[in-house]
Amino acid sequence: MVHLAQLGKGADMSENQQKSSNVVWHDTQVTTAMRETLNGHQGAVLWFTGLSGAGKSTLANAVEERLHQMKARTFVIDGDNVRHGLCADLTFSDEDRVENIRRVGEVAGLFVQAGVLTLTAFISPFRADREKVRSIVGKNFIEVHCDTALEVCESRDVKGLYKKARAGEIADFTGISSPYEAPENPEIRVDTGSDDLNLCVDQVIAYLVERGVVQDV
Ligand code: ADX
Repeated sequence: MVHLAQLGKGADMSENQQKSSNVVWHDTQVTTAMRETLNGHQGAVLWFTGLSGAGKSTLANAVEERLHQMKARTFVIDGDNVRHGLCADLTFSDEDRVENIRRVGEVAGLFVQAGVLTLTAFISPFRADREKVRSIVGKNFIEVHCDTALEVCESRDVKGLYKKARAGEIADFTGISSPYEAPENPEIRVDTGSDDLNLCVDQVIAYLVERGVVQDV
């Protein structure tokens, strides 16, 4: 298994993987702080992680809707969607999942620099890779564990994928034939297995308000 942390020697991944030379960093006149002032809230990543069918996309979308009503600038980056474009070349092997999360982590970091409240919904099964994204994004990386038990996800089986995985029709399926490393100390743990969706949304919004990322309305 290859993790982001093993792909290079130093702390900064972009630097580690940089193959181009003769490129310089350009600072901008308009800063992240200026964009955040204009927006009236901070930029942040709400990184939803959990098994397939745990409710990551559903919760991310419901939280976005609430934040939009609060007039925040938001964007959802969804695992299934990204695999139709930016990450269409990736499989579900360990190596490709690492690359998937690396790309999305970099993109999410750019969104935060743009001052956007970014909500990502990826299984992101490996702890080391999520921690690497935390180091890319900086202080406003907020890990949200959608803590739904495998049995519950499997009994829901909204996409019918668990059934196929059990039948051996899908290889490397998370929770069945590929590991999921649950967060040990997430900023937010949501009981998406049994709690009502609105209650979960309230929990996330309350955290953002308490942390000063957004203002209460
Ligand atoms: S991740 O592991 O690389 O973070 P990602 O979130 O992009 O995964 O994609 C997960 C989605 O792809 C699942 O919700 C499911 O719909 C679909 N999927 C297809 N094959 C697999 C598989 N082998 N393991 C997990 N999810 C899969």
